[in-house]
Amino acid sequence: MSVSDEELDEYPDGSVKLRNPHIELMDQDILYHLALGSGSHDLVEMFRDVKFVCMGGTPRRMEMFAYYIMKEIGYKLPTGTTLMDISQYSYRYSMFKVGPVLSISHGMGTPSIGILLHETIKLMYHSKAKDPIFFRLGTCGGLGVEPGTVVISDDAIDGLGNHSYSVPILGKVVQRPCKFDKKLTRELKALADPEDPYETTLGTTMCADDFYEGQGRCDGAFCDYSEADKLEYLEGLMKSGVKNIEMESVPFAALTNHAGIKAAVICVALLNRLKGDQVCTPKEVLNEYQLRPQILVARYIKKYLQTK
Ligand code: URA
Repeated sequence: MSVSDEELDEYPDGSVKLRNPHIELMDQDILYHLALGSGSHDLVEMFRDVKFVCMGGTPRRMEMFAYYIMKEIGYKLPTGTTLMDISQYSYRYSMFKVGPVLSISHGMGTPSIGILLHETIKLMYHSKAKDPIFFRLGTCGGLGVEPGTVVISDDAIDGLGNHSYSVPILGKVVQRPCKFDKKLTRELKALADPEDPYETTLGTTMCADDFYEGQGRCDGAFCDYSEADKLEYLEGLMKSGVKNIEMESVPFAALTNHAGIKAAVICVALLNRLKGDQVCTPKEVLNEYQLRPQILVARYIKKYLQTK
């Protein structure tokens, strides 16, 4: 038994519906990698007010984002409390909650973000959060763009050019289409300020399963192609509309779409891959680059909250 697209749209109150008939029949659901559970925690009390789920690679970046968004939306933690890593005892992901915003680290690569998406989507379901919007705030390699450019994904492809997430399930490959919410993508682009000292652009994102050979780098432990082969490949990608390469957009686009959740991926380019492979930009500059997707998402969240 599975839940159809039509049934998914059946919750006019905006609750997240699961395409899994088994969950309702379970006594409790342990969200193992988040160190949370529907039996052990009052998930409705803890998370019902969540409106934005922001994911990014590292615990540190997502903790910093939590403090940043707290300042931006003027949120005050309840008296006597401090910002806590809700998932600290999972020793896997970190999660911080700032009013309607959840800030969660997703680790590196498709398996890591895929597991987190399963559990976060279930968390939204159990907590009865309404119409949550998911963002990935990441870093990437750019194609033909200046380092520091912010790329909003309007499409995502895997390393073979498929616009879908291929997952082997019960011995067969299941393909789930990658789809971003077009309106959300447009709204984010419109929030780029002409005064920003960097470009913000839309483009297709290639999601690789590896940082080195999977992204056509010549500086991994292994490499069986030439610099010319690499450039021919990267230029071909660029001609087909690919603006950046990272490692999480495909499951992010596909699994949020499968759950009927609006989502967007916003990444800052650490380098222009047509000019090199190594990330040699100084740490302080990289730290400033990493704030750029956060600034754009904070603008969106502030605007949203002001109009509600
Ligand atoms: N992240 C990636 O996946 N690739 C890069 O080149 C930079 C950041």
